[in-house]
Amino acid sequence: MMDSKIDFVAEIGRLREEKNAVILAHYYQTGDIQDIADCVGDSLALAQWAANTTADIIVLCGVHFMGETAKILSPQKKVLVPDLAAGCSLADSCPADAFEKFVNANPEYQVISYVNTTAAVKALTDVVVTSTNARLIVDSFPQDVKLIFGPDRNLGNYINSITGRKMLLWDGACHVHEQFSLEKMLELKKKYPEAEVIAHPECKQPILTVADFIGSTAALLKHTEQSLKTTFIVTTESGVIHAMRKRSPHKTFIPAPPNDSTCACNECSFMRLNTIEKLYLCLRDEKPEIEIDPILCERAAKPIRRMLELSHPKT
Ligand code: 13P
Ligand code: SF4
Repeated sequence: MMDSKIDFVAEIGRLREEKNAVILAHYYQTGDIQDIADCVGDSLALAQWAANTTADIIVLCGVHFMGETAKILSPQKKVLVPDLAAGCSLADSCPADAFEKFVNANPEYQVISYVNTTAAVKALTDVVVTSTNARLIVDSFPQDVKLIFGPDRNLGNYINSITGRKMLLWDGACHVHEQFSLEKMLELKKKYPEAEVIAHPECKQPILTVADFIGSTAALLKHTEQSLKTTFIVTTESGVIHAMRKRSPHKTFIPAPPNDSTCACNECSFMRLNTIEKLYLCLRDEKPEIEIDPILCERAAKPIRRMLELSHPKT
């Protein structure tokens, strides 16, 4: 039983210093974790920080594939995640053995994989992308190069629509971003006609059609700072609203409603498995740790490093 008198924030601060650890958090973590992290960012920023840190221990407050990506980029470091069960429905929608068959059936195609994949899928990939750099990296291939894009069909369709490509798509999706309903969105737009609808490209196409701005988590956040509008309907995981409110305290952020009003489906249940208490325990005990077979690690590193080379400097 955990001592309820422990000051988690103070203890995490002490342990972080003592162990030369860095705490990296995704925007979909709870506010208390974001507030204590050294860096809070989207998938691309997390990978960039993990590749460049001088810390001995990386605590990745996010989901398993993010911890894996950090370990692949810094294999000599200890990479911890507060809860190893923090998976990802999108990564789960693309098992490596099935993806390998798909890739082998299309040998003339280059393979682009979203970072939301397992290390085994990355090892089958030519270049990894995140939602921040997907367009840039797809555009780096000449038009006549045939491309496979996996696993997110919504992001793939969106990139096809803005680049005019006909990438072959894997049929995967994220359960959080797929659940937003057009009907409820239209009702909300009627209620707040002055609001700007902002959406992550993992959302389904009808939602993207009514969005005023589409972008990665980091792009949405930046947009809310720069836009002249003061009210936003935020159509992505609602954790990012914490950072939006911090950066623009005078603006209003309305989480896009879940499809089913009885659930909190606009929160990623995997991301929310991490808690401040588990963060304290994992720093204290230096577990659970991400471990990857070194050969797999080397194979998966190539397409991630290629992404980092092709990306703009840190966003
Ligand atoms: P980004 O961090 O690239 O916006 O991706 C969102 C996401 O679904 C992370 O799991
Ligand atoms: Fe995966 Fe979706 Fe959760 Fe992101 S929000 S970690 S894509 S399940």
